[in-house]
Amino acid sequence: MQTKIMLPEDRIPKQWYNIIPDMPGQLAPVIHPGTMQPVGPDDLLPLFPMGLIEQEVSSQRWIDIPDEVRDILSLWRPSPMFRAHRLEKTLGTPAKIYYKYEGVSPAGSHKPNTAVPQAYYNKIAGTKRIASETGAGQWGSSIALACQMFGLECMIYMVKVSFSQKPYRKSMMQLWGADVVPSPSNLTNAGRAVLTADPNSNGSLGIAISEAVEDAATREDTRYALGSVLNHVCLHQTVIGLEAKEQMAIAGDYPDVVIGCHGGGSNFAGIAFPFIADKANGKNIRILAAEPISCPTLTKAVYEFDYGDTAKMAPISRMYTLGHDFMPPGIHAGGLRYHGAAPLVSQLLHEGVIEARAVGQVGCFEAAVQFSRAEGIIPAPESSHAIRAAIDEALQAKEEEQEKTILFNLSGHGHVDMAAYDAFFSGQLEDYEYPSEAIEKSLAHLPKVG
Ligand SMILES: Cc1ncc(COP(=O)(O)O)c(C=O)c1O
Repeated sequence: MQTKIMLPEDRIPKQWYNIIPDMPGQLAPVIHPGTMQPVGPDDLLPLFPMGLIEQEVSSQRWIDIPDEVRDILSLWRPSPMFRAHRLEKTLGTPAKIYYKYEGVSPAGSHKPNTAVPQAYYNKIAGTKRIASETGAGQWGSSIALACQMFGLECMIYMVKVSFSQKPYRKSMMQLWGADVVPSPSNLTNAGRAVLTADPNSNGSLGIAISEAVEDAATREDTRYALGSVLNHVCLHQTVIGLEAKEQMAIAGDYPDVVIGCHGGGSNFAGIAFPFIADKANGKNIRILAAEPISCPTLTKAVYEFDYGDTAKMAPISRMYTLGHDFMPPGIHAGGLRYHGAAPLVSQLLHEGVIEARAVGQVGCFEAAVQFSRAEGIIPAPESSHAIRAAIDEALQAKEEEQEKTILFNLSGHGHVDMAAYDAFFSGQLEDYEYPSEAIEKSLAHLPKVG
C-alpha cells in the first residue's frame, strides 16, 4: 500500500496546458475600464510584459516552460501526491482519497508556481521592479521570493487587516527583499481616497489591487503581477494537475471527483484543467470547487462583466462576481476573499462543466484538524475548504456504500496561520453567511458593458 507517490525531477512538466482552445464556447472580451472597448495587447503593456500578454490570449494548447523557470521549480517540484490511508481509516469510508501537496514550495503554497514565470518574463522584458498586492500574504511572499531569484525589486501592498494579523508573512516578504506597506496606504491616489472616506479602513483585496495597479501604471520601471484570476496564472498552475495525472497513473487509479478550494481560481484551475481535458474527451469525472459561505462568489453571485478592483482601474472581465465594492468579513481564510472568480473558471461553471459548493469556516477547521490528526500535515485555512469537501464526499460514499476515488489539492500548509487555529480552538470562530442584501447592493454598481 503506497502512501507517497513521487515523480523524479525530470518529470517536471516541460509544457503548460492551456485550456483556452478546449473551452466550451467563445471567451468573452476583456474590456478597458477607461474606453469601455475591448482591450488589445498594447493596452496591457504598462502592466504586463509581452510574454505574459501573449499567454493571456494564446490559443496554443501546449506552451513551453522556459528552462530557467523549470530550474527554479525543481527546488520543490514535482510535488508529492499522497494516498490518505490514515484519513480513510478514520472516516471508515470505502472511498480512496488522494491529495496533491503544494505546501512543499519555499513560500508554503502553490503560488510560487506562477510567481516564478511571472518574474522571469518580466526580467527578460527589462522590468526592474514589480508591484503587487497580497491578502493573507501567501501571494506576496511568493512574488517576493521570485523577484529575489531574478534580481527584481518588489513592492507589496498588503491588506491592512492581514498586515496586523499575519506579521510573519510580512517578515517572509522582507526576508526575500520586498518592501511591504499596509493597504490602504497614503502612497497612491486609490489608497488616499479610501483613507479619506474611512481612516480606519481594514482594506480589501480589491483596494490593494487598485494601489498596486496604480503604482505599476505610473512608473516606467515597474510592472504589475497578479497571483490569481488571470488566464496566464491559471495556465502556470497546470503543472499541478499534469503531475497529478502521472501520479494517479503510477497509483493505478483515476479520480471520480477532483476538488480544489476557490479564491480567485488559480489552484483550482491548476489541479482541475488537465482533468477537464479528459472530461471533454468523454471521461466520466466530476470537478468541484469549494469556496467559503462568507465570500460565495461561485454559488451566490452573478455571471456579469465587472471590474477587477475597487477603484475601477483594472480591466473589466465577464466572471462570477459579488461586485467590485464587495467588503468581505474578516474570516481567517484570507486568501479566499476576492469578489470575483477567474473568467475561465466562471465560464466552465456557467457551462455546467464544473460544480461549486460553499462551506462554512467552522466545518472547514474541523475538517483541517481531523485531517492533521490523521495525516500529520497542518493545512492552510484556505486549503481546508477542499478538505471539507473531500471529507463530505468520502462520508457520502460511506453512506451510499459506494466505491469512489477522490483527489483534492492541498494548496498550502498553515504554519504561519496558527493564530487562526488558536481562534478555532478557543471557540472564537463562527460561520458567517454573506447576506444576500449586501450582494444585491454591491451588484447595483456593476459597469454597463454594451
Ligand atoms: C494556500 C492557499 N490556497 C488557496 C488560495 C486561493 O487562491 P486561488 O484561488 O488563486 O488558488 C490561497 C490564496 O492566497 C492560498 O494562500
